Amino acid sequence: MSAASDIEIRPAGKDAAERLAALHALCFDEAWDASSIARLLAMPGAFALMALPSPADGDPDAPLPGFVLARAGGGEAEILTIGVSPAARGRGIGRRLLAAAAATALAAGADSLFLEVAEDNEEALRLYERFGFYLVGIRPAYYARGPLRIAARTLRCDLPPLMGAS
Ligand SMILES: CC(C)(COP(=O)(O)OP(=O)(O)OC[C@H]1O[C@@H](n2cnc3c(N)ncnc32)[C@H](O)[C@@H]1OP(=O)(O)O)[C@@H](O)C(=O)NCCC(=O)NCCS
Repeated sequence: MSAASDIEIRPAGKDAAERLAALHALCFDEAWDASSIARLLAMPGAFALMALPSPADGDPDAPLPGFVLARAGGGEAEILTIGVSPAARGRGIGRRLLAAAAATALAAGADSLFLEVAEDNEEALRLYERFGFYLVGIRPAYYARGPLRIAARTLRCDLPPLMGAS
């Protein structure tokens, strides 16, 4: 799998919903199916970005290394989900996806980017913290993890991000 420098980030439309769903299933216990993703993408202000190997091999069904789904509106934006395939993690793709989502949100008029993350998701928390997100709230018992209930942290990043744009 490529290093982040061999990746390009491109907008993903509803026609990519199956590929996004396949990657979502690799990244999360509760997978979102393609029709749910297509419905999300149809919401006002919603957008998706996908990481592709560069140069793209032209295969429209090739597995994606990473994706982010977000929504901008009312001067704010929210990351709805972000994931990098297990084989491609730790190479800067998540950071590049966040930077691209922040740039898209900024262009849509957002001055801040929000997200929710489980408080035990150490990789994601490190990524967000290093990117410039900071804590603005806690939702106790927000996620189910088997019999456990895990709190969500609500994080905010002011746009443009101080660190993430590089
Ligand atoms: C969170 C996730 C998107 C990170 O993607 P990634 O491409 O591996 O992240 P990057 O390589 O861009 O790493 C960026 C930063 O995150 C942190 N990080 C990433 N992987 C890490 C790991 N395994 N351990 C510790 N820190 C890690 C590091 O601080 C890293 O910055 P640094 O290399 O300058 O130290 C990926 O782990 C993932 O898809 N996880 C499953 C889905 C998920 O939890 N999504 C977030 C839901 S809120």
